[in-house]
Amino acid sequence: MNKKRLFVVISLVIAVNAISSLSYISTAKAAKINAMKLYNKHCNACHDKNGKPTNFGKELATTDFTDKNWQANTTDEKIIKQITDGTTEKMMPFKDKMSADEIGVLVPVIRNFAKK
Ligand code: HEC
Repeated sequence: MNKKRLFVVISLVIAVNAISSLSYISTAKAAKINAMKLYNKHCNACHDKNGKPTNFGKELATTDFTDKNWQANTTDEKIIKQITDGTTEKMMPFKDKMSADEIGVLVPVIRNFAKK
């Protein structure tokens, strides 16, 4: 391979990588925005936008998602189950309001509250 061709090939590889990483970022961003929208729409009566209980939530002894201890002792499966099935007389189930995918994208939202 002569030098000029090598340069063209390398430039192409770099360009393709740049495009694919860019689209990865925007997909991740879009997913995050939608997940935050879902969270703000369905959860904010009891869980505020920073993951802490609202005043109303406090009366129900709502979980504080910024609590690192709680985060360390729960699993993604438990979070999904809670959103799906709720807790009787405390938190309503969301299985009829959201798809499994929508419930799934809320897991990283909840996990992120403890990282700030
Ligand atoms: C009516 C108030 C209310 C709403 C709305 C609500 N929650 Fe909750 N949530 C609670 C309460 C109360 C608890 C504590 C339940 C318990 O102790 O069993 C809780 C606990 C949780 C937990 C943690 C359970 C655990 O293992 O400690 C998760 C995760 C959760 N909620 C996610 C959500 C998400 C996501 C939404 C929106 C889709 C939502 N909640 C909407 C009241 C609410």
